[in-house]
Amino acid sequence: MKTIKAGIIGTGFIGPAHVEAARRLGFVEMVALCEANDDLARTKATALGIPKSYGSIAALLKDKEVEVIHNCTPNHIHFEISKKIMAAGKHVISEKPLAMTTKESRELVKLAKQTGVVNAIDFNYRYYPLVQEARDQVASGKLGDVFHATGSYTQDWLYLATDWNWRLVPQFSGKSRAVADVGSHWCDAIQFITGLKITKVLGDFQTIHKHRMKPKKEVETYSGKLLKPSDYEPVPIHTEDFASVLFQFSNGAHGSFSVSQCFAGRKNRLFYELAGSKKSLVWDQERPNELWIGYREKPNELLIKDPSLLSPVARTYAHYPGGHPEAYPDGLKNFLLRVYSYIAGKEKRPDFSTFQDGHDELAICEAILASSKSKRWESVKY
Ligand SMILES: NC(=O)c1ccc[n+]([C@@H]2O[C@H](COP(=O)([O-])OP(=O)(O)OC[C@H]3O[C@@H](n4cnc5c(N)ncnc54)[C@H](O)[C@@H]3O)[C@@H](O)[C@H]2O)c1
Repeated sequence: MKTIKAGIIGTGFIGPAHVEAARRLGFVEMVALCEANDDLARTKATALGIPKSYGSIAALLKDKEVEVIHNCTPNHIHFEISKKIMAAGKHVISEKPLAMTTKESRELVKLAKQTGVVNAIDFNYRYYPLVQEARDQVASGKLGDVFHATGSYTQDWLYLATDWNWRLVPQFSGKSRAVADVGSHWCDAIQFITGLKITKVLGDFQTIHKHRMKPKKEVETYSGKLLKPSDYEPVPIHTEDFASVLFQFSNGAHGSFSVSQCFAGRKNRLFYELAGSKKSLVWDQERPNELWIGYREKPNELLIKDPSLLSPVARTYAHYPGGHPEAYPDGLKNFLLRVYSYIAGKEKRPDFSTFQDGHDELAICEAILASSKSKRWESVKY
């Protein structure tokens, strides 16, 4: 089979995870890397074993060998970069969020249609075998009617006032932080599993650290633990560390979730509980190989990821036998496998999250942010 040649822009935390996942597919070659400047690009390209390095987007886009580009830069430049990638006629795989506002994301969805390029967004939690199993249990009627959905997304990497990242600056990250950064994953996962749309929201925000200590030099995501007290200066914070959200689904079912980036001990816990008329399902990203299935009339079950026990669809997301756990890097691999299989013409329809899903998430986040200010229920304007 033909090898597809790809390039990547932005290689901080998530960029290298894309490089590794793409390489594991076996038919994708990462031929070019673009970073914020030439020196950084050269250093990163050497470290990741990528032959060509570019210090500007324009230079990368001129490279005729590159057919697909991964946009793994900070949020505020996603829109301009994805626009340029599509204008250059290259396929685009964007990190979330798709853009900073729905005005921008609407334009990207439109441009993707006009240019006809393949467009994808990394809502990677969809691609775990047991998330696919949960979706299948809903779609096949095994869960019954959806009564309600609840859950949370909790982390502790911004727990201390000395923890710093560009996500704390609205100019780079957007007007919402915890909801937009991780709540967006929760909403995408629950909509994907239930097949329902969130139509109304009521949000309440809390900023725990009203001032944080900003390092005087730049730090990559998750690497702030290495700094000394003299390396910091205080700055005011205007985005939420914690949020609680009530919501309604398109079918009238209700739900709620909370997000926190200041929850000691929780590292990256996307957690949902889905109550149906025949059973309930519970899943935790920190224990991704277990799906708890609750019953009223018989003992509950714990389904351990094992391809032989999964539905035919979910089985295609599990690459190792039972007892061989699969987790975060494998979700990303499953996502890219579907995107690149479609680009290669092996799949007839896109079976992955697209720019439209990225737009939908921004619409939900904007409604939650609006509600946190109006203190009223707000409708999601898709
Ligand atoms: N789907 C997920 O699970 C997931 C996880 C983490 C991050 N993300 C998303 O990925 C994006 C990046 O996050 P991160 O944590 O890797 O950030 P990061 O700060 O660790 O890395 C960003 C990289 O982009 C580079 N960059 C900045 N400006 C650039 C420019 N003009 N041209 C080229 N490169 C540039 C930086 O030098 C850095 O290497 C964010 O939008 C974030 O929301 C998604």
